[in-house]
Amino acid sequence: MEKTNLERVTVPVILSRKSSVRKISAVTAYDYSFARLVDQAGVEMILVGDSLGSVVQGLDTTLGVTLDEMIYHCRCVTRAVQRALVVGDLPFLTYQISPEQAMLSAGRLLKEGGVSAVKLEGGVAMAATIARLTAVDIPVIGHVGLTPQSVHRMGGYKVQGRVHSNSRRQGSWEKVIADAQAVQEAGAFAIVLEGICSELAHEITTTLQIPTIGIGAGVQCDGQILVLNDLLGMGEGDSPRFVKKYADLRSTVTSALQSYVAEVEGGKFPTAQHEYRMPENRKLKRAS
Ligand code: KIV
Repeated sequence: MEKTNLERVTVPVILSRKSSVRKISAVTAYDYSFARLVDQAGVEMILVGDSLGSVVQGLDTTLGVTLDEMIYHCRCVTRAVQRALVVGDLPFLTYQISPEQAMLSAGRLLKEGGVSAVKLEGGVAMAATIARLTAVDIPVIGHVGLTPQSVHRMGGYKVQGRVHSNSRRQGSWEKVIADAQAVQEAGAFAIVLEGICSELAHEITTTLQIPTIGIGAGVQCDGQILVLNDLLGMGEGDSPRFVKKYADLRSTVTSALQSYVAEVEGGKFPTAQHEYRMPENRKLKRAS
């Protein structure tokens, strides 16, 4: 693959963008072709998210994604990327058992998947694990608020930290703050804030010294991340409120494929320009 002189986005680059006017752009990717487009478009951080369970594998939740599957997709993505920081997601039950288990899983994402950092879900409960990984220089991004691997505890994909009275402490507001602080103290270099109200995300962003990357957490975060398939409008049905569709690939791809079907069925494709021809002098002479 041709190498260019693009300066790589590294962990220190992401850290240096705390409170910067220029925010961090992040997107998920799962395969070579899209990762290449995402990288070439200038996205700074690419997450090989376990959301691939839903958008690539068609699962209802992310819980079924395995470490080997993540490594496979990380490899596809890291092969394509020349500039962006590539982060691999630790799937469910590959880090929660013990910090040692997390070390082995994260190590495989770096060694075999080629990523430069890992992301894991959880705050206070995961602090010792994050500390163990960062102690051996495995860069970690935390993830608090709506954590999709906790779908059953949350009773669905529900906004977290909502306060239903004047007292902040009555909601899970304080829990999300404590989780975010624990992630920072354990040594993470950035944190994903998912599915929390923008006021809470603002408070966390102004309190923490590490960059916050929001998804459904408002504009005050230090950066934003979206699932690529959502951003490109590839899904069926209504998107969640926090998604902005920057394209309608579903319509574009469907109409391209419908044209293909019609042309093949009608004998209009391929035409002469898509055919290989024998050189004139090699044409088989028919016996007359
Ligand atoms: O798995 C994923 O894609 C994620 C992002 C939505 C943050 O965790």
